[in-house]
Amino acid sequence: MPRGVALVTGGAGAIGAAICRALAAAGHPCAVADLSLEAAETVAAGLAGAGGRGVALDVTDPASVEAAVARSETELGPVDVLVSCAGWDEFRAFLDTDEAFSAKVLEINLAGPIRITRRVLPGMVEREAGRIVNVASDAGRVGSSMESVYSAAKGGLVAFTKTIAREMARHGITANAVCPGPTDTPLFNDMADASPSGERMRTALARAIPLGRLGVPEDVAPAVAFLASDEARFITGQTLSVSGGLTMC
Ligand SMILES: NC(=O)c1ccc[n+]([C@@H]2O[C@H](COP(=O)([O-])OP(=O)(O)OC[C@H]3O[C@@H](n4cnc5c(N)ncnc54)[C@H](O)[C@@H]3O)[C@@H](O)[C@H]2O)c1
Repeated sequence: MPRGVALVTGGAGAIGAAICRALAAAGHPCAVADLSLEAAETVAAGLAGAGGRGVALDVTDPASVEAAVARSETELGPVDVLVSCAGWDEFRAFLDTDEAFSAKVLEINLAGPIRITRRVLPGMVEREAGRIVNVASDAGRVGSSMESVYSAAKGGLVAFTKTIAREMARHGITANAVCPGPTDTPLFNDMADASPSGERMRTALARAIPLGRLGVPEDVAPAVAFLASDEARFITGQTLSVSGGLTMC
C-alpha cells in the first residue's frame, strides 16, 4: 500500500540511509536529502519498495532548504513525513570550543531542523496530517563529556519536538524524537579516531551498554519507521532512546 512521501535530511549518512531504506520498504517514497547530491542519489538508487530520489540539501542555508523541499514536492509530492537526521560534531572539551565551533554545531543540529520544519509544516497543517521525527541523541537527554554544545543542540531539539507536538496535535500531526546512543557509524568512528582516548572510549562504552555492543544504523531505523507509520498515530511528544539500554529515562 503506498504511504506518504518522506523527506530525510542527512539521508546519505549511515543512520539516514538506513532510515531511508526502512521507510521505502514500508511504502514511503523517499527524498534522500544531503549535502552531496551524488551520495544522496546513490542511496536513492539503492532503495527497494517505494524507492526515492536524491536531493541536494544544506540545512544551514535557508535557500537550499527552500530548493530541496520544492524539488522533493515537484518530483515526489507533498512531504507527509519529515525526518531530520542531518547532524555533526567533534569531541572537544568545552573549554576548547569557540564561537565558530558552537555556531556550526548549533546550526547543523538545531537551527537546521527548526528551519526545515518551518518550511514543511504549513503543508501538513493544510492537509491535517503529518509526521515529524527528529533524530536527536542520548547526549541531549543525559549529557555527554566532550560534547557540550552538541548535547545542548540535541536537548534543544528534543524540547522543540515536544513543543511542535503540543502545537500541532489539533492538526493531526505528530512529532517525536529518536535518540540513538553510541552507534557504529563514520561520524562516531571519525570522532573517536580523532581523540587520543578514542579506542579506550569505544571499549568502555560497549562494556557499559547493557545489551553489550554499540548500536548499528539498522537498530535506529525501525524506530523511526514506526513513528512515521499510521500505527503510531496516537504517539506524540515522545523521546525514544535506541541505545541498548545505556540510558533508561
Ligand atoms: N553515530 C552515533 O553514535 C550517533 C549517536 C547519537 C545521535 N546521532 C545522530 O544521528 C544522526 C546521523 O548520524 P550518523 O552517525 O549516521 O552520521 P553520518 O555522518 O553518517 O550522517 C550525518 C549526515 O548528515 C549530513 N549533513 C551534515 N551536515 C549537513 C547539512 N548542513 N545539511 C544537510 N546534511 C548534512 C552528512 O553529510 C551526513 O550524510 C545525526 O543527527 C547524529 O547527531 C548519531
